Amino acid sequence: MQQVITNPQNDIRQMHTNTTLISGNFKKKDIVSLDQFSTEDLRILFTLTNQMKQIVVDHEPSGLLAGHMVSLLFFEPSSRTFGSFAAAVKRLGGQTLDIQSPEIVSSVAKGEPFEDTICTFEAYSDAIVLRHKIAGSAKLAAETASSIPVINAGDGNNEHPTQTLLDLYTLYDQLGRLNNLTCLIAGDPLNSRVIHSLIRGLSLFNNNTVYLLSPPQLQLTRDDFLFWSARGIRIIEITSEKDIPGDCHFWYWTRIQQERFASREEYHDAMKERFIVTPKLLNDYANKDMILLDPLPRVGTIDPAVDADKRAQYFRSQIRNGLYTRMALLALLLGMA
Ligand code: CP
Repeated sequence: MQQVITNPQNDIRQMHTNTTLISGNFKKKDIVSLDQFSTEDLRILFTLTNQMKQIVVDHEPSGLLAGHMVSLLFFEPSSRTFGSFAAAVKRLGGQTLDIQSPEIVSSVAKGEPFEDTICTFEAYSDAIVLRHKIAGSAKLAAETASSIPVINAGDGNNEHPTQTLLDLYTLYDQLGRLNNLTCLIAGDPLNSRVIHSLIRGLSLFNNNTVYLLSPPQLQLTRDDFLFWSARGIRIIEITSEKDIPGDCHFWYWTRIQQERFASREEYHDAMKERFIVTPKLLNDYANKDMILLDPLPRVGTIDPAVDADKRAQYFRSQIRNGLYTRMALLALLLGMA
């Protein structure tokens, strides 16, 4: 498995052949891929998420995770995922070991192998939350730390399953259903782990249609397009704003993933062709009841003039739901709910 960590070109389907399904029992499971979830698993998670939201809103002291230590190992920068996992543990009375940039502050800087770092934090904690730049690293960590849950907080251009959990919760909360939806997902389908997990999530439900808007060079690989289309979700790739349908229930905007480009020149070329949400774009193509989501960070995706529009949910429900969803997930994985 060392090969996985040194080869960023891994086939993402191959990476998930051995992930364990949740099947209604979250206790001690690793969370590596959205493909581990069924609709019933999401129902269980979202029911608990509602309770977690109430704990936060009511400032209710909770000792649900008292006595538990969670290691947050972030080999890539993060504001929301790191912050919400740290807040989730602490809101429930647990503690965190916060290791941001392990390649600078830990013995990784001295050449420690990835598996040894994971084994070390396995010894100190009850769960590990891992973000890493290499696709497949979460699965390798899960296999290495076999005695505790490992949660994928984003592995390279592969997946970001907890982002999709909070996004699906937000969509269900706002729209009242997760089937029969038409949506626009824009940005960088080729490189965005968030888009890859979201398509997996939406494909769990019937009759969903995804319009994918991007420059041609950032479309899904043909393998991914065929693989996900075979699940029944309709994926329609478009390269012009003029092709945005007027009946979308939600728009999901993502940034061009600078860190996945081979050179600055290629990134800057892609940025020139990016699409930006402006008040005019919303006025021309969006209906009044849709919602606008963005996993953030905002890097050339949405004009701040849009923030005041009530349809813009990224700084409203979406980031807050990240806290509630991760509280629920941790409580379930640690067997405390
Ligand atoms: N959405 C998201 O993953 O944001 P961060 O990179 O700030 O965690």
